[in-house]
Amino acid sequence: MGNIKKAIITAADIGADFLPATKAMPKEMLPIVDTPVIQFVVEEAIASGIEEILIISGKNKSTIGNHFDRNIHLETMLSDKNESDKLVVLAKSDVPNIHYIRQAYPKGLGDAILHAESFVGDEPFVILLGDDIMPNETPLTKILMDLYAEHQTPIVATMKTGIEKLAHSGIVEVKEARGENLFEINHVFEKVESAVMANDLGIIGRYIMTPDVFSKLHALSSEGNLELQLTDAIEALNSEQEVLAYEYLGKRYDAGDKYGLLLANIELGLKHKETAKPLTEYLKELSEQLKRE
Ligand code: G1P
Repeated sequence: MGNIKKAIITAADIGADFLPATKAMPKEMLPIVDTPVIQFVVEEAIASGIEEILIISGKNKSTIGNHFDRNIHLETMLSDKNESDKLVVLAKSDVPNIHYIRQAYPKGLGDAILHAESFVGDEPFVILLGDDIMPNETPLTKILMDLYAEHQTPIVATMKTGIEKLAHSGIVEVKEARGENLFEINHVFEKVESAVMANDLGIIGRYIMTPDVFSKLHALSSEGNLELQLTDAIEALNSEQEVLAYEYLGKRYDAGDKYGLLLANIELGLKHKETAKPLTEYLKELSEQLKRE
């Protein structure tokens, strides 16, 4: 199979963890300082050389499409005030086509991915979860695409997340090392409390898949599962062909989680040109105050 050109970005989750903020607004549009979460994800795909993006959204998510469209009215108003730079969304000239499809009913990540089957065709592709942010000098998607070029086999991005967090994520039980930070997989599990070991790796929101994953998802669907887990399809795939796990050592913000979104706002706020100085001063004062308490 050839080089990877297509990416699927999932943004279909109803965002119940952020209610009431997400009652009428997609959780992927929550801001980190002044930029919606999903923009970081789209920018990572673009920076990795992706040429076609499919965003899988759902009910009440139309603002995601509006965000990546041009807004001529706003552009004219800002240009009259000499403030056009405020509206630079995806500034690069080689922005890929962004397509949209909606998941009619939230039936899990695996079902969302099934909506991409005709978009993907017979090519390998990347999956990026739209609420997971990986600020890394070399984009994680690019690292995975390069590994795919070398190994020609599906790859799951993982991190050491600590045993208490593993119960809330997909888990990889590794077999043996296949290269630097690269492992063969024994089994993958979705959110299990029992038998999780501290040295197991948590699945984070980036995957390279081949179209073979769709037949596994269809098989799970025909078993009548109410929620289709991508992890279960990867387990089935791994029993027939090699799936590798890459251990990412960079920074990750799980912006699908309240604490993760807060951390991202603080840490990226410390780097933003308008907020860096006052936020640094405030955090120093706050830390002194907390030490006194
Ligand atoms: C999903 C996946 C899980 C993965 C996680 C990463 O879970 O099902 O395997 O570890 O994303 O963020 P969710 O966070 O949607 O519950």
